[in-house]
Amino acid sequence: MEIAVSRKAHFNAAHRLHVAAWSEEENKRFFGQCNNPNFHGHNYNLIVTVIGEVDPVSGYLIDTKWLSQLIKAEIEDRFDHKNLNIDCPEFAQTNPTAENIAIIIWKILRVKISEKVKLKVVLYETERNFVEYNGN
Ligand code: NI
Repeated sequence: MEIAVSRKAHFNAAHRLHVAAWSEEENKRFFGQCNNPNFHGHNYNLIVTVIGEVDPVSGYLIDTKWLSQLIKAEIEDRFDHKNLNIDCPEFAQTNPTAENIAIIIWKILRVKISEKVKLKVVLYETERNFVEYNGN
């Protein structure tokens, strides 16, 4: 009997989508405004979901206070008000697309959360564009 528990979080960050191996022209054509050399920002909304069995004694799947503190310490403090390309070594070699940000967030959190539970990350880059990663 699996249950899912989710926690929402938020951070603001700047980025530029750019592939170093491509020409300026190719980058501009492919990424459009997202390739602007002077960066642009997003209000990222994050939903972290853990899935597993309810503990029969406590009635919890996970302590949401602990989860919220983990997301604050590991994700918000790391990425909030940062330029992902410049300030964050995680993206030194990785294009900071929503896809890659979600994968990196998942990897950072996965090692900190009990292996007994499954982990899913949903990252909204805009109200209408969001990506989902569950490690598969
Ligand atoms: Ni963007």
